[in-house]
Amino acid sequence: MVLKEIVNRYSVREYLDREVEDDKLKNILEAGRIAPSANNAQPWKFIVVKSPEKRQKIAERTTWGKFIANAPVLIVACKTQDSWMMGGWFDSAVLDIGIAVDHMTLQATHLGLGTCWVGDFNENLVKKLLNIPKDIRVVTLLTVGYPERDETPRKNRAPFSDVVSYEEY
Ligand SMILES: Cc1cc2nc3c(=O)[nH]c(=O)nc-3n(C[C@H](O)[C@H](O)[C@H](O)COP(=O)(O)O)c2cc1C
Repeated sequence: MVLKEIVNRYSVREYLDREVEDDKLKNILEAGRIAPSANNAQPWKFIVVKSPEKRQKIAERTTWGKFIANAPVLIVACKTQDSWMMGGWFDSAVLDIGIAVDHMTLQATHLGLGTCWVGDFNENLVKKLLNIPKDIRVVTLLTVGYPERDETPRKNRAPFSDVVSYEEY
């Protein structure tokens, strides 16, 4: 049941010094690759960064993502094109990438791995460091690795009745 992974996923910011097996990493990326997107545009490219030097440089230019330096894998999610939904008032490519990355977090949880989204990054630095073309945007980073501790996730969330209503707002 996928709800198990949804409940068990939490933001992991401390990682073991242990490599992520290639087949597991591929499996996580595959969960993103087959995610849905508006018009099936698949407006994404995912760059896998393992290099400690590159991760260190990215970590130096963030406040809330220092742990990038200690996570064995960093996935850099890029937007390769704009995408629009009928009736949508925003670029749905960003939404699409959110879905794909969330699929990855859940598959990682399923495999016993931890992840954390990092929205605090210096895009110019990441682009320069990874040779990302000018017209491509970096939407988010995702750290992946084995969690340092076996934690029970705390779900600090608004109550159901605050965020769900029926038939009207
Ligand atoms: C788009 C996005 C950006 C985020 N950026 C950061 C970040 O820069 N640094 C960080 O430590 N956590 C970041 N997070 C993690 C959130 O803080 C976390 O998901 C939230 O507090 C809920 O906790 P949980 O993931 O453990 O359930 C981000 C999450 C999302 C979805």
